[in-house]
Amino acid sequence: MSYFHREEEKSALVLFVSEDEYVLRSAERTFAGSGIRFLLTLNAGEALDVIAHEKIAVVVADNHLSGTKGIDLLSKVSVLSAGTKKILITSDADLTTAVNAIYSGSVSRVIMKPWIGDDLDQNVKEVIIQYHISQSLKQENSDTLLSIAQAVEIKDLYTLGHSSRVAAYALMLAQASGMSSENTENIKYGGLLHDIGKIHIPEHILNKKDNLTHEEHTVLRKHPGLGANVAGHLNLSQPIINIIRYHHERYDGKGYPCGMKGKDIPLETRIVSIADVYDALTSDRQYRKRYHVDEALNIMKSMNGNAFDPLLLEVFIDQCLTSEIMQFAPATYDMFRYPDKLIEPFGDVRIFNKL
Ligand SMILES: [Fe+2]
Repeated sequence: MSYFHREEEKSALVLFVSEDEYVLRSAERTFAGSGIRFLLTLNAGEALDVIAHEKIAVVVADNHLSGTKGIDLLSKVSVLSAGTKKILITSDADLTTAVNAIYSGSVSRVIMKPWIGDDLDQNVKEVIIQYHISQSLKQENSDTLLSIAQAVEIKDLYTLGHSSRVAAYALMLAQASGMSSENTENIKYGGLLHDIGKIHIPEHILNKKDNLTHEEHTVLRKHPGLGANVAGHLNLSQPIINIIRYHHERYDGKGYPCGMKGKDIPLETRIVSIADVYDALTSDRQYRKRYHVDEALNIMKSMNGNAFDPLLLEVFIDQCLTSEIMQFAPATYDMFRYPDKLIEPFGDVRIFNKL
């Protein structure tokens, strides 16, 4: 199962170009140890040299450079590396340049200096996600889709490694249920991408340690619909879109966004939602260790008839409990990028709200 592993060279590389210590230090402070690979360069010549030799996902250029403007450097980047996304850092003095750059589409974002809070962090992460999505339009394959899923995980620490595991568990359940190989492929991709809509949810909501307010819940609950829209733009198959759109529906009709009930919920979605909850229960949280496999399955059984398709849950328990991956994967949490950085409080009450 190669999709289960992440190869470092497939992660996005971000190039910062600035002579301003404020910018360079901010970049280093923000991204060192974040799992995002980045390079710092001091001038346009150096930057162009790097771009000629490395595949750069995002160039973040300061408009104030000796001998050239950042915006002119970014124009050259467009020629040298068409797929590279561009962010311009500028100040009030360059406001017209910034506005023109945005309107002409020559840059993805403009960040005003000095920035407030996590502006740099948010913008760079979101543009990395844009990069992965545009790459996937060119070359749809499991590695690219995994990159997209991992880009979401960078934004939402809660989902760290979650997508890969959900894909693996759902795939097993689909196979144990006798699904055709074409459908099991959809299940795998749907498992990987089910939370892709979180790219549109602000990080302060995704990573909030306290209970969410009503308004924040309302925003968070938009992620299945937003994700389905993204999947539609990627021309993904209908079963994958169904998984993304309906993965928070419950068998008893008390889920969201549609309140669908029973077998009205597409089969592929009922499978992924079992995998999704199982992974949540068997993953560590800041204030509690993960449940053991038996405990997790008991909790899920107590929800049976309410939350899950009872027959599928039976298959999940009977057929999958003995699987090597099922026993192995929860213990491999550290195989992903941020072994030290976890997690947020997670009450059982949030099982269906926050997944
Ligand atoms: Fe979700």
